[in-house]
Amino acid sequence: MLFRIARSKDGETISHYDQYKVEVKEGMTVLDALFQIQDKMDPSLSFRYSCRGAVCGSCAMLIDKIPRLACKTQLSTLKRDDKKNEMNLEPFPALVEAPNGWSPSDEVLVEPLPNLPLLKDLVVDMCRFYETLEKLKLWIDIEKGTEYRNQSPEERKRIDRLVNCIMCALCYGSCPINAENEDYLGPAALAKSWRFFDDSRTPNPDRFLKDAKGESGAPLCELIMNCVRVCPKGVAPGGAIRKIKEAE
Ligand code: SF4
Ligand code: FES
Repeated sequence: MLFRIARSKDGETISHYDQYKVEVKEGMTVLDALFQIQDKMDPSLSFRYSCRGAVCGSCAMLIDKIPRLACKTQLSTLKRDDKKNEMNLEPFPALVEAPNGWSPSDEVLVEPLPNLPLLKDLVVDMCRFYETLEKLKLWIDIEKGTEYRNQSPEERKRIDRLVNCIMCALCYGSCPINAENEDYLGPAALAKSWRFFDDSRTPNPDRFLKDAKGESGAPLCELIMNCVRVCPKGVAPGGAIRKIKEAE
């Protein structure tokens, strides 16, 4: 199987694409293919991974113009005969502009996740994504001496989807608003804001809603829902953002 992979000489932009021929074995993922390339053809190829099991969120990248986890994407699912926007994503330049010479029916195209600064090859700088969570203080402050707060199954059910987020940033990389506006908090941070607002154990839930409704938050979202389509964990950030917009 042929792969066309984005490379970066200066560490800031894609400088060119390299082509590799991967020997495919049953059950291989895109991450396995990258390992084969790095081990046998080009040790300089850089990419990020850790768990190899769709848990850590490290291997988010653009595969055939769709933001996906490399370790969760089986080569057998990459049908070469119909490469046109199979997830029906709302397009923006990084999801549309193809490199010269790419042949969608013959080659798997692998590029860095959009909407975050490039560090090298397939590795992006996640600081902006993480710093947003820190800026919004997306956690519950527990004071010393605080008693346990029990939660009923019904209360837990309300946040079931949202606690599954693995912080992979696929939603951030798929969002046309993030593509246009670096200041937009993004789908994952807003989904997490709603998770803490709606968590029955949160002592001061209003602060989460206030920040999420701020000028860089939910009002910028146009409910395009690319985030819902690409999320590998079914978090459905767009649904949470809709609730933030509607909440008083
Ligand atoms: S909401 Fe989904 S796509 Fe976004 S960071 Fe969390 S797991 Fe990844
Ligand atoms: S390597 Fe951990 S999610 Fe892919």
